[in-house]
Amino acid sequence: MQFDLFEKPIRFETHADYIAAMMSLTDDPLAQFGGNMVIYRGNPDADLMIIGEGPGAEEDRLGKPYVGRSGQLLDKILESVNFDPENEIYVTNTVFRRPPNNRDPLPAELEYYAPYLMEGIRLVDPKVILLTGRFSMRVVLNERQGITKVRGTWYQREGRWIMPMFHPAYLLRNPQRTPGSPKALTWQDIQAVRRKYDELIG
Ligand code: URA
Ligand code: URA
Repeated sequence: MQFDLFEKPIRFETHADYIAAMMSLTDDPLAQFGGNMVIYRGNPDADLMIIGEGPGAEEDRLGKPYVGRSGQLLDKILESVNFDPENEIYVTNTVFRRPPNNRDPLPAELEYYAPYLMEGIRLVDPKVILLTGRFSMRVVLNERQGITKVRGTWYQREGRWIMPMFHPAYLLRNPQRTPGSPKALTWQDIQAVRRKYDELIG
């Protein structure tokens, strides 16, 4: 089965219905590789959503996004500006099973899962969304410029404020904190997110 993102939006009454339907998928394109469904962690009523790429080995094992080394760094970044990852954040991904050998998701895989991601955004209804990685930028914003060009920029879609940020895995590979480094820029970005969140939600 293939979904068309624009012609066939999928709809559920509640977040619980949405999760139940996804957990019972068996013919989604990444299912053939045997991984678990990995949908979200955090609070489905959160005003701040993070959308990453796809689950890795640790995420597949535990059935939750961003629980490996990248996830630990993500939580540290959020906590550095006093966001509580359990209660104030909803974390999800662009594809909902681990691609084999952590390869990039294929266009047909992105296209299949995209209506589910869009429905997750509609149901959670966050005011602010952070996109980590180029695939969530493509699916959510149709943005094909590089992350180094557009990180820290606010986009507005359907009343939501959306910002691309460096992927935490990239920060792990580039740990220096000198001015202009990815970590220093991410520190600026997360502070801008904190200010926007306070302005919107107060
Ligand atoms: N990287 C992601 O983009 N998502 C995860 O869940 C884990 C690592
Ligand atoms: N390269 C990546 O793979 N991720 C980033 O976030 C930035 C550059």
